[in-house]
Formats: sequence, structure tokens, C-alpha cells
Amino acid sequence: MGKVKLDTPMAIEERSEAEKAARDAIRAMRKSYGEIGLVDVDPDPIIQFQNWLSEAANNSMVVEANAMVLSTSTTESISSRTVLLKDVTSAGFTFFTNYQSHKASEIAANPQVALLFPWYAMERQVMIQGIASKVSAVESDDYFATRPWGSQIGAWASAQSTLLANRADLEERQAAFAAKYPEGSPVPRPEHWGGYIVAPTTIELWQGRYSRLHDRVRYINTDSSTNGGWDIQRFYP
Ligand SMILES: Cc1cc2nc3c(=O)[nH]c(=O)nc-3n(C[C@H](O)[C@H](O)[C@H](O)COP(=O)(O)O)c2cc1C
Repeated sequence: MGKVKLDTPMAIEERSEAEKAARDAIRAMRKSYGEIGLVDVDPDPIIQFQNWLSEAANNSMVVEANAMVLSTSTTESISSRTVLLKDVTSAGFTFFTNYQSHKASEIAANPQVALLFPWYAMERQVMIQGIASKVSAVESDDYFATRPWGSQIGAWASAQSTLLANRADLEERQAAFAAKYPEGSPVPRPEHWGGYIVAPTTIELWQGRYSRLHDRVRYINTDSSTNGGWDIQRFYP
């Protein structure tokens, strides 16, 4: 293997024909987005979101329609990861996770979070800003009880976001908890596992349109105490 020369960026004219072709192929990844835009929307963003979610769920090109990218931050750090939406009501968007995870520590420091649903196959995305808080223990118990046994045991076995020396350690923990809570018997919810609900402050719908004249429509919560009033505004794409 030859050495890599650092700090000498390759000039454009030094690119080989193959490199130019690769670059041009990336540049050509340009789709003309749909003619169907956001003509009218529901005055209630949650109903509008539920409509889009069910359209995404029924679209075979969309993988995991309820997957969303959750971003959390503190004054020192920022991070993103995918989690699964498990409920949406007028109160907000719910997901489940480990309360001792990295995301949980960032939420504890700063409950302001962002959610992103990237439904590329439909030329759509939904961006949400909101405030995260833990759901009740009863709600977490209810959802935990509906999970498959293997996932329940996994919640016990995984010290999410902490250093794991090797995979065997994880599998040993899985086996130990599987022995403690055999399949068929009820598995209690670990205290360190549960839900968060994100109460939205803004919800933005993005729909790709022709010539990059996309539609952006943002709902802004004007009364966070009740989740009642929403202003609807259009933004330049
Ligand atoms: C499709 C998909 C769905 C996921 N769903 C969840 C989830 O619902 N809850 C969760 O804790 N982690 C989920 N994960 C794993 C997270 O992305 C992440 O790795 C984990 O929560 C640890 O994140 P943290 O260390 O930033 O806290 C999912 C990952 C993918 C790719």
C-alpha cells in the first residue's frame, strides 16, 4: 500500500477520467420532485402528521415509516440517532429507550430535542422541535408488556451506550436474564427503561416540488400550556 500524502488536496484538473465520471454520477443524482404539493393542510398538525405517517406506512418504498432521527444536545455536545415512534397524540410523540443512555443524559441536561422523519421515497420530511419528558411508569409498563420476550430480555441485558469489552459479555448477560425470566413468564420492566414524550413546539412539513420550488409549511405552537393553538406559516424552500 502506498503512502497517503496529507495536506496536499488534489487539484480538480488532476482527477482521473474515472474520478470525474464518479463525480458526475453523483451530481446527476437529481430527481425532479412531484407536481403534487401542499395545497391544503389540516389545521391540526397532529392529524396532518398522522395522515402523512399512514401514507408513508402504506408506501412499500418507505422502510420503517415510524423511524425518526432524534437529536439531543447540551452546551458541550450534540448527537443524533434513530428511534422508533410508538405513539402520537395531541400531547406529543412517544419513543422508548434506556434511561441511562447517552440520549437520556443529554435530555436530562436539556429537554429541548428535535425529531426528523425522512421519507425520501415520498419526497417528504417532517421536522419537529419539542420538549422531551418521561412518560408515566404505568405507560412504560403497558408498552413493555407488549414487547416480544427477546426484546424484553434485551432491555435487561443491554447497558445501552456504555463500553462493551466484547460481544460475548452481552450474550452472557442475555443468557443470564433469559434464565432469570424464562420465556412464557412475565418479564418485569427494568426501571432504567421507559418512554419519553416529545411535546411539539414546531412541526414542519416538507414536500419536494419541481425546480426545487419545494413546499415548506410550519406549524408553530402558540399556546404550549394547552397544545391548543397552532399558527401555520409557509417558508421559502
Ligand atoms: C431503525 C432503528 C430503530 C431504532 N430504534 C430504537 C428505539 O426505539 N429505541 C432505542 O433506544 N434505540 C433505537 N435504535 C438504536 C439507536 O439508534 C441508538 O443506537 C441507541 O438508542 C443508543 O443511542 P445513544 O447512545 O445516543 O443514547 C434504533 C436504531 C435503528 C437503526
